[in-house]
Parts: sequence; C-alpha cells; structure tokens
Amino acid sequence: MTEQDLLTLRGEFPALAESVYLISHSLGAMPQTTTAALAEFASLWVKKSIVAWEDWLRESQLAAGRIARILGAAPGTVQMATNVSQVQATIASSLDFASPRNRVVYTDMNFPSVSYVWKAEERRGAKVVLVKSDDGITVPTERMLAAIDERTLIVPISHVLFRSSYVQDAAAIVKRAHEVGALVLLDVYQSAGIVPLDVTALDVDFATGGSVKWLCGGPGAAYLYVRPDLIPRFSPRTTGWFAHRAPFAFTMPEQDYADGIARFGGGTLAIAPLYQARAGAELLGRLDMQAVRRKSLRQTAAMIEHCLAAGYRLNSPRDEQRGGTVCFDFPGSDKVCTELNRRKFFCDHRPGAGIRCSPHFYNTDDEISRFLDEIERIRAGK
Ligand SMILES: Cc1ncc(COP(=O)(O)O)c(C=O)c1O
Repeated sequence: MTEQDLLTLRGEFPALAESVYLISHSLGAMPQTTTAALAEFASLWVKKSIVAWEDWLRESQLAAGRIARILGAAPGTVQMATNVSQVQATIASSLDFASPRNRVVYTDMNFPSVSYVWKAEERRGAKVVLVKSDDGITVPTERMLAAIDERTLIVPISHVLFRSSYVQDAAAIVKRAHEVGALVLLDVYQSAGIVPLDVTALDVDFATGGSVKWLCGGPGAAYLYVRPDLIPRFSPRTTGWFAHRAPFAFTMPEQDYADGIARFGGGTLAIAPLYQARAGAELLGRLDMQAVRRKSLRQTAAMIEHCLAAGYRLNSPRDEQRGGTVCFDFPGSDKVCTELNRRKFFCDHRPGAGIRCSPHFYNTDDEISRFLDEIERIRAGK
C-alpha cells in the first residue's frame, strides 16, 4: 500500500473537502457511509421494533470482531463498552487490593480520567505509585521498570501519551510486570489506528480504547481486550445482566458470570454508536498499518522541522518514539488555536502540550503546509 493508495480514500470523508482536518487524535473525520449505518439502526427500530434486538446484539458482536482485527486480538477476546473510563473501572472492580500486592503503577502523563478511576481505588486499599516525567514529554522506561516490583498488582498505562505523543515501551514494561507477577492494562486509545499494534504479540493482559479518535467512529463505542487465558480468572464487581451466562433467564439474586468475554460486560450497551463506528473500524482494519505509520512519521517529521525552524517549543519527541501527533507551543497558542478552528483548520490545545495536530492517513502534505502557514498568518494579525 502506497501513500497514494491511502490518499485515494479521501473521498470517503466529506469533512476533508471543507476543512484542513488535523484533529484525528481527538475526533477522527466521519466516513460518509456512517450516515447510512445510523439510518440502518433507526430503520431497524421502526420496522422491526423489539425484534431489532436480534440485529442489534449481532452488531455488538460484529463491532467487537472489527476491533479485534485492528488490535491483533483473537476472536472472543473483545467486549464493547461506552467509554474507556468505564472499562478501566470494570477492570479495577475485578481486583482485590487487600493483600500486600496492592500497588497500581503508572506515569503522571497518563490520561487524567483513567487516573481518577485508579486513585478512587485507594479507598479500597490500592496504593497508586506515580512515575514522574522530567520533561513533560517522555517517561524514562528504566524509571517505569524500577517502579514495578513484587508489590505491584497492575500497571495501567497509555501506549501513546495523549499530552506529548511519546510511545511507551510496552513490550519492556509487560516483560518486567510479568517477571514480578503483575498485570498490564494498556490504553491504546492513542495508538490503535495510527501505530501498528498487536496485543497478542505484546502479551498484554488487558487493553482498552475507543472509536472517537484515529478509528473515525465517534463517541460511545469503546472496547476492552482481555488475554484469552485470563478471561475466566476475573469476576468484575462492576457488572450487569449482560455479563450473566443467561441474561434472559432473569435469575436472582446473585450474578452467574458468563464463561467468555461477556463476563466483562454490564447493563444494556449503547447500540447506535456501534453502527456509527462501523465504517471507520472496517476501513482502518483494511489498511496496511506499516504504510500508515511510514506516512505518519514522514509527515510529523516535516512538521517538527517546521516548528523548530519557527522557534516554537516542541512538546513531542523528535525521534521516532512518537505516535501520530505533534505538540508545540508559543505565547498565545491557545488563542491561535481558537482562531484556527474558527477558520476550519482543525486542531486542539491542551495545558502542558500547546497546540496538538495530527495528520492521519487521509491528510496531504499540502494541507499540512497550509495549516502551518495559517498559524503564521494569524500570529501576524492577518
Ligand atoms: C489515552 C486516552 N485514554 C482515555 C481517554 C478518554 O477515554 P474516555 O473518555 O472514553 O473515558 C483519552 C481521550 O479522550 C485518551 O487520549
């Protein structure tokens, strides 16, 4: 697959004709067939009423299969959910923090929402160990490894950091965690769809992510991967009737967990988002991720060169240990970002990161040049 092959898919994304779309780390562009998929969901409701559940439940299985393909996961190891925070809470609720092995190790560069989930577990006996970044961009792998020991229960970390796009050495962290009997929960929200990923080869215990960003699927279609041999080992306290082995038997009062991945489910899934996420996940699952990665590294390297030449502070790694986003800052960058969005040059701004912008497989070099020129125009008061 060449860059040209990737760019031929631009026609599938209407927003690309109307804007310079460099915000795929936050909200991927909507594929045009998503409109029809959402209409299909609605039409099933109108035409089949209660019988639509047969289609809707089948769609939840299909959605999990599409995600499994993107993650390199075996069939039957992915459960759909609404958002990552919810899924991380489900995993946290599966753990017992009463023993001396009660430590939860992650970096201060983790996504805050996920940290809120684990800090709340301190009320149940967990002890969070925060591994600090010195530069607000990277986290030394040796420091992560040194923080993981026999007292560590779980290491819930981001594969790619949202604030800088630094790629953590997941393989080394998993190896260390397993040596001392700890679990790793890898948040792949900022890697799936832009960085080649194989959760099976990485041997992670759990992985979470969602569809809003690089998967171009909109909100509400998050997922949990569990390593096949671990599935029967956990019985989340955060649960619901779809985690039961026979939800429609309506047995009382205790949960009787399903044997398979469904045991990590809960109450009724949000079904419309699964239809909404279908086109993006199908498309991303078909792409050659090595080609996507090559293009991403080439385009982000060119952006970095421009930022350094312009005198911006670079808040992403210069070397190839970065994901698909470039973060850079200069005085007044927040206001420039607001104006860029008003002019339909889409990006975002985060404290500590500055402007974040991300070329996806569908972005051209010309769009990147126009985006960077527009920043200079706004700064010059034009
Ligand atoms: C790495 C990472 N994890 C988690 C989240 C948030 O997940 P959710 O809103 O689905 O809980 C984000 C961004 O929104 C993120 O970048």
